[in-house]
Amino acid sequence: DDPAVDPFEIARVAASELADRTGVERHDIALTLGSGWAKAADLIGETTATIPASEITGFSKPALEGHVGTLRSVLLPSGKRALVIGARTHYYEGHGVRRVVHSVRTAAAAGASTMILTNGAGGIKEHWKPGTPVLISDHINLTADSPLEGATFIDLTDLYSSRLRDLARTVDSSLDEGVYCQFRGPHYETPAEVQMAKTIGGHIVGMSTALEAIAARQAGMEILGMSLITNLAAGIQKTPLSHEEVIEAGREAEGRISALLAEIVGKL
Ligand code: 6GU
Repeated sequence: DDPAVDPFEIARVAASELADRTGVERHDIALTLGSGWAKAADLIGETTATIPASEITGFSKPALEGHVGTLRSVLLPSGKRALVIGARTHYYEGHGVRRVVHSVRTAAAAGASTMILTNGAGGIKEHWKPGTPVLISDHINLTADSPLEGATFIDLTDLYSSRLRDLARTVDSSLDEGVYCQFRGPHYETPAEVQMAKTIGGHIVGMSTALEAIAARQAGMEILGMSLITNLAAGIQKTPLSHEEVIEAGREAEGRISALLAEIVGKL
């Protein structure tokens, strides 16, 4: 958070380290794989390098079980290069928003023009069964924070590219979509907060992605956002929420949703 430090310079340093370590000068696509999505890394193409994120400037050690903590360079069948980010710094870790969006800025500095952001999240639409993948159509940022600093007045219209959502639906026409509400966490919402999110137009509740999407838009990237509904949100589902339930739903859905994502990536 030091104002003397330029976060974009840190991202350029990280991207240059990545180029050295992977032997890949430019990546075309970046994917952040959240709870339940990790297997997509193995399905999209051939991994040519795997690097512990903590060895790259600006990345922290993974805070959480179920998060892999590596950066991978993957060669897609099309010849494109994907940077797979299995190391997300969450806002609730309290390291500040610069840390949260560092991976996105690094991907942009590495050349990526497409940013795929995935997560595990709670559902507000009652008919969404745990294990349902949904497209993010827009977001409501309830963190009261922003990765932008100073007078950076950027437009956030069509933040989650309608072109990429349409492309995803050519793979699975039954994909539903919804508005993602980013709460600070790490506690889950109260039932009253979930009702608020519903009232203001939200359909998905989570603790990531929105701040990352803003940084990706600032960097000029085209964004695809997808949530795995791991559970219904508090008060929508009648039983208490647990982290174990979230991880378990991710495990159950992993093969299926990773294959779906890999097929979408194949069409980019
Ligand atoms: Cl219900 N809320 C939030 N904020 N994140 C979640 C979740 C709920 N379920 C999985 N991740």
